[in-house]
Amino acid sequence: MNLPPLDARLRLIVSMVRRGRAAADVGTDHGKLIAHLVGTGRCPGGCATDIRPGPLSKARELVDALGLQDRVQVLLCDGLADVADHMAEDIVIAGMGGDTIVHIMESWPYSKGEDKHFLLQAMTKPEVLRSWLWQNGFEIREERCASQSGHFYSVMSVFYSGVVKQPAEVERYLGAIEDFSDPDAWAYGRKLLYQFEQKVAGMELAGQDASHWKELMEQINARMTPKEV
Ligand SMILES: C[S@@+](CC[C@H](N)C(=O)[O-])C[C@H]1O[C@@H](n2cnc3c(N)ncnc32)[C@H](O)[C@@H]1O
Repeated sequence: MNLPPLDARLRLIVSMVRRGRAAADVGTDHGKLIAHLVGTGRCPGGCATDIRPGPLSKARELVDALGLQDRVQVLLCDGLADVADHMAEDIVIAGMGGDTIVHIMESWPYSKGEDKHFLLQAMTKPEVLRSWLWQNGFEIREERCASQSGHFYSVMSVFYSGVVKQPAEVERYLGAIEDFSDPDAWAYGRKLLYQFEQKVAGMELAGQDASHWKELMEQINARMTPKEV
């Protein structure tokens, strides 16, 4: 099967999807992710959704060209609105803003099912997404990073546990990223620090008190520094 190549971000997501589970690719756009998940046999079948007809038709063309139309349903809808409970166990919501991902998860009545596994990758506001997850009883069991063309991404592996957590601010920004010896995780943390440096410099130039952000930067640095044993 002539599958299209995947970039590092999409390869990481594919590697975190459980084998043998029905997959959903929400906001599919090009359709490459669902094509790989089902085309390689990692998942027996699944569905791809998009809110816009244009991207969805690209995904449908790819699914048809690969002969996967019997195993992949292509759906025009907002998030998971037309996805029934039994249709999706491993659910990828990637390449969207943190607010949109929250909207999609809170609108689906089956998000808190114990067999549901979400792979979430927020292009913006990942800290908003993490806060919402923890405050609504979701557990970020693992978070891994990828980099591509100077951009840095994190992918969260999420299950519902029912345990509500009030995260410290540093956790909102670093989530469940633990292993900063991984070059992609290190680069993700450095990028965050650079953004805060810019913010602090701007505030100080404007004569504002930036001590809160400086304290947060110290906490991020401490999390990234290897512990002495
Ligand atoms: C930047 S693309 C990401 C494509 C792919 N998921 C990836 O990560 O490479 C975002 C896609 O999400 C779709 N989208 C945005 N909001 C959506 C929603 N509420 N429900 C479904 N699709 C949505 C857009 O139409 C677009 O095709």
